[in-house]
Amino acid sequence: MKVQTVEFVGSFPGVAKAPAPSLPEFAFIGRSNVGKSSLVNMLTMRKDIAKTSSTPGKTQMLNMFDVDETWRLVDLPGYGYAKVSKKHRASLRTMIEEYISTRPTLHCAFVLLDGSIPLQKIDREMIEWLGENGIPQAWVFTKVDKGRSRKTAQHLEDSVEALKADWDELPPHFMTSAEKATGREELLTFIASSMPPA
Ligand code: GTP
Ligand code: MG
Repeated sequence: MKVQTVEFVGSFPGVAKAPAPSLPEFAFIGRSNVGKSSLVNMLTMRKDIAKTSSTPGKTQMLNMFDVDETWRLVDLPGYGYAKVSKKHRASLRTMIEEYISTRPTLHCAFVLLDGSIPLQKIDREMIEWLGENGIPQAWVFTKVDKGRSRKTAQHLEDSVEALKADWDELPPHFMTSAEKATGREELLTFIASSMPPA
């Protein structure tokens, strides 16, 4: 699938303030700093349509981007960032969970998992929560370019093995690098195949 036009719809402090559901939505969720905003830029080939930062906690709202006026990317705040207050963390969590559990046009929640480190407990919990709530999900391992390739490959293998223990059949999963555009075609093809027929 080709990407021609990308339009920033806006930043919203909660699903209640977001535009009424219309286009099919694909959301990026994951721990702070995992690379959600970078992946929006990589997929759309726009250098910084989504704001990124080396410091965790950059995205604090629901950010929406319309692609080719036919589907929508939703860049969510990260979860689990330890350096913000408990109250703030809880409010971000509510923002994420309310969006995911109430949005009728959410077609797929992409859970981003940092491919350069071992699988984290909080990620397994999010995956489990999505499963329990019957939300269609796919997994995106990020930063596969990082570090020594053998080490990264081992982390990826271990993570997939660990997840297999919880799943009879694994959801679709992708290996990506926003730096090198790895996995771009695969993700776009998957998104195209998940959309309702025009
Ligand atoms: P929050 O908005 O804080 O939740 O973070 P985020 O998940 O949106 O992460 P963001 O895209 O801002 O990226 C965080 C950091 O990781 C930045 O310094 C990026 O340059 C870096 N990064 C993201 N993707 C990749 C990647 O594929 N490879 C490498 N090497 N670094 C990456
Ligand atoms: Mg972000």
